[in-house]
Amino acid sequence: MSAKILYGKDFAALIKEKVRFEVDKMIFKPGLAVIIVGENPASQVYVRNKHKTCEELGINSKVVALPENTTKEELLNVIDELNAAENIQGILVQLPLPDAIKAHSDEILNRINPLKDVDGFHPMNVGNLVIGNPKLVPCTPAGCLEMLDLAGIEIDGKRAVIIGRSNIVGKPMLHLLMARHATVTVCHSHTKNLAEITREADILVAAMGKPKFVTADMIKPGAVVIDVGINRIAPKKLVGDVDFDAAVEIAGAITPVPGGVGLLTVAMLMKNVVTATKLQIGV
Ligand code: GUN
Repeated sequence: MSAKILYGKDFAALIKEKVRFEVDKMIFKPGLAVIIVGENPASQVYVRNKHKTCEELGINSKVVALPENTTKEELLNVIDELNAAENIQGILVQLPLPDAIKAHSDEILNRINPLKDVDGFHPMNVGNLVIGNPKLVPCTPAGCLEMLDLAGIEIDGKRAVIIGRSNIVGKPMLHLLMARHATVTVCHSHTKNLAEITREADILVAAMGKPKFVTADMIKPGAVVIDVGINRIAPKKLVGDVDFDAAVEIAGAITPVPGGVGLLTVAMLMKNVVTATKLQIGV
């Protein structure tokens, strides 16, 4: 039996349609500022994609491209200006930052006004998610949840296993699934008997950044497998954290890479711009 394939573009289109409807109702056009420091080629592609999607949905897009040698102080000044700008409702600093300022990433991200923090990385937004009062939630895990809901996949009472404990995916995913009454286990590089645990999962989320790490024998027959990994294994070849060709034969539903949850991330960012705007105007 072959799994149902959950294509990101189908769900992204639904999310974007709702965002466009919300933006059209607003009395002013919200604005998103994306700051990119240096010339990381992958980051440049992501930023262009965000800019294009803003244009598609009627959101003003401001891309602030800063040189590789930008200092921490210069970057903090740019964030301060955007925090104060009335035409900007969302601010995102594209990661990773250049090596020279990478060590200050937390201080830099924490400078963003939490109400404009459309990445959901500020400790205030992280804390709100943990206490069950989510405001701005990281886009990739929020997109996974949205996809499960749109696909009609039940979460309540299910065993969910997440492989990976990053601040961007693993940890927020834990809180989102737990808030929806799943029983959640988070596995990582020190976990013993990993396959034994993953085989119990009704919902398996792979987010540890290891190409084709999840093999068919690690999956319970009929499970929902969400692959958050994006690994470049050759100049033009992207694969996920799941061995898709084998997994598709055993899972009940599975997201492909490319073409899976990655496409939802940008759609959810646009949704967060709308949420941020509403938080700022108090509706
Ligand atoms: N780089 C890769 N993923 C992300 C993300 O979700 N947000 C930001 N700001 N940078 C990223």
